[in-house]
Amino acid sequence: MLSIYDVLVHGLSNRFAWRCPTRRLVSLYCTGLSANHLEAGVGTGFFLDRAGGAELNRLVLLDINRHCLERAGRRLARFRPSLYQVNLLAPIKLDLAPFSSVGLTYVLHCLPGTMGEKLKVVDHLRPLMGKRAALFGATILGRGMAPNRAARALLDLYNAKGVFNNREDDIASLSEGLKQRFDEVEIRREGCVALFRAA
Ligand SMILES: C[S@@+](CC[C@H](N)C(=O)[O-])C[C@H]1O[C@@H](n2cnc3c(N)ncnc32)[C@H](O)[C@@H]1O
Repeated sequence: MLSIYDVLVHGLSNRFAWRCPTRRLVSLYCTGLSANHLEAGVGTGFFLDRAGGAELNRLVLLDINRHCLERAGRRLARFRPSLYQVNLLAPIKLDLAPFSSVGLTYVLHCLPGTMGEKLKVVDHLRPLMGKRAALFGATILGRGMAPNRAARALLDLYNAKGVFNNREDDIASLSEGLKQRFDEVEIRREGCVALFRAA
């Protein structure tokens, strides 16, 4: 799946199903990336590859899946990333100096549970964030948006297969959960996708 993930998700689904063009997500990374960045749930490393520049001098990648880490590690080798296989739903027992930015894109909609339970991931990432650090990312919503036919079909399929668990995910619960944890929260919806930044 990893070899077709970028084409399927970032090439086709973002535009035709989720109605959030990939360039919006790339732009979130261009604005949000600091020189000292942690990426949680890196997948294929698509956004860091597109948005990362020469100033990115510390990059740490986390993922539960070893194959994702290896693939993203190879793709992003120019940034000499450190890779850690971790489950974001459990406390992260890594002794790492704080980061200035943390990316969390297209991870929440995969996780089981309510939004409150999913946001435990943020509680586990927060100790790794420096004082002025920002968390940014995106997630595909399951409620409170108007999915087109393609989006409805994909939501049905992915939720049935357990690839997504986002039937109850809405922007209000995400926004509320982030506001409970951060002083500054910016959140907006583009099609079926919530894009957020919290600091
Ligand atoms: C849909 S992919 C998104 C990848 C990438 N962020 C992107 O937007 O292209 C979700 C990623 O989160 C990882 N992931 C899912 N559940 C996880 C967990 N509990 N802990 C750590 N990583 C997880 C998956 O292995 C996968 O790499």
